[in-house]
Amino acid sequence: MREDVDRIVIREHELAERVTAMAREIAAGYPDSAEGITIVTVLAGSLVFLSDLIRRLPLKMRIGLITVSSYAGRTTLSNGAALASSFLPDLRNRHVLIVDDILETGGTLRLVQSQIRAAGPRSVKTAVLLRKTAKAPTDLPVEFIGFDIEDLFVVGYGLDYDGLYRNLPYIAVLRPELYRTGAEP
Ligand code: IMP
Ligand code: MG
Repeated sequence: MREDVDRIVIREHELAERVTAMAREIAAGYPDSAEGITIVTVLAGSLVFLSDLIRRLPLKMRIGLITVSSYAGRTTLSNGAALASSFLPDLRNRHVLIVDDILETGGTLRLVQSQIRAAGPRSVKTAVLLRKTAKAPTDLPVEFIGFDIEDLFVVGYGLDYDGLYRNLPYIAVLRPELYRTGAEP
């Protein structure tokens, strides 16, 4: 698996340090946290980020899961987000924090945010580990951002290519010949 990696973009210790700092920023965003928050995480890319983040967040929390499909199969082109399934606790009057792996065109988060808002929460904030600055829309509210990255297709720390490489402990770019862009043949 590691022989497929062309170059590491964000190292393990950089991820750990930034996620710790993000947890502090997020906790500071909920000063009267007695009732806690409800995290809604977008599967499966956010799994690793989520598990590191929540263990550094000293808040009461419930966790809901939502699945959105945008990159199916061996492609690095987004096909437009569609809600696949969700396992959510009651969000009415809750402070909801959406957690996603990466913000690219914003299609995924736009869909998730509107879905969450429709459930009548008290507040909605969004945290993403990565943002591709070149593509990210400026009109989408995202309160917590881990790293701004170049417009590269990255894998690892939860992010996949064709379902693989999620378990790499760092963020990396694969060797170019491994990527097949465009629609499935
Ligand atoms: P958006 O809907 O265009 O913002 O794309 C966001 C979703 O596409 C993310 O939640 C990821 O699942 C996926 N995605 C976008 N860029 C990458 C990448 O570089 N590597 C892996 N997945 C990506
Ligand atoms: Mg995703």
